[in-house]
Amino acid sequence: MPNRNLNLILLGPPGGGKGTQGERLQEDLELPYYATGDILRAAVRDQTEIGKAAKEYMDRGDLVPDDVIIGVIAERLESGEADHGFILDGFPRTVPQAEALDRKLSELGRQLTAVVLIDVSDEEIVHRLSGRRVCVDAGHVYHVDFNPPATEGVCDIDGSELIVRDDDEPEVVRHRLVQYHEKTAPLVDFYRKQALLNRVDGSQDPDRVGESVRSLISTFSLEEGS
Ligand code: AP5
Repeated sequence: MPNRNLNLILLGPPGGGKGTQGERLQEDLELPYYATGDILRAAVRDQTEIGKAAKEYMDRGDLVPDDVIIGVIAERLESGEADHGFILDGFPRTVPQAEALDRKLSELGRQLTAVVLIDVSDEEIVHRLSGRRVCVDAGHVYHVDFNPPATEGVCDIDGSELIVRDDDEPEVVRHRLVQYHEKTAPLVDFYRKQALLNRVDGSQDPDRVGESVRSLISTFSLEEGS
């Protein structure tokens, strides 16, 4: 279902399945997909100025400063490549980031279509992140039990090695959850007040979550087309 003019946010806790569903949506909708965690990990790998500024925060499981990440997303929205829609994953993550996004979109004469909250309990997240594996080349996501690769330790898509992310160590995961509840969860109310929030039960298996997300998005497409 390729689609245009959908400006979407995937919101949810660390390990809630935003990246898993984001990869699928990107293929379905053929829209630019901006996952700030992936962008920052690439910057750390390439040792750019942003990567150097972000690394220590990411290793601790803290959020990077708002001004660093707001600049990263603003640049992409201004570039023209997202003029016909976008999917944001992992941004915004604080109220100041959400306010900055609203300002940038209004400067560009755009508005959000919807926010999709993928809702999962903390207990489930700890279990998921302990089994997550990601490929070193592109960050494709697997799980040793729920979504295993065809060959253990090898990415199905690009053949690169699968590793455990540094911030998936249990202590760091617990800290990321605290950060989520303190700083990101307030966005649920922020977007509810704007009548943009749509909740999906993220505790179902990945295909069921995908179906729920797709059927939600088909309702936005109808509205956009009407
Ligand atoms: P980021 O990479 O965005 O991390 P996150 O939000 O913590 O999200 P994750 O990537 O851990 O999880 P996910 O929801 O994508 O889940 P996934 O699909 O992989 O950010 C990393 C760091 O960057 C942050 O800590 C921060 O420092 C910094 N950062 C990024 N953006 C920032 C911002 N805006 N502001 C400030 N700092 C920022 O799934 C998890 C596992 O579960 C996988 O193994 C998967 O296979 C499995 N799985 C997925 N769905 C299901 C399912 N339905 N059932 C069973 N298993 C499932």
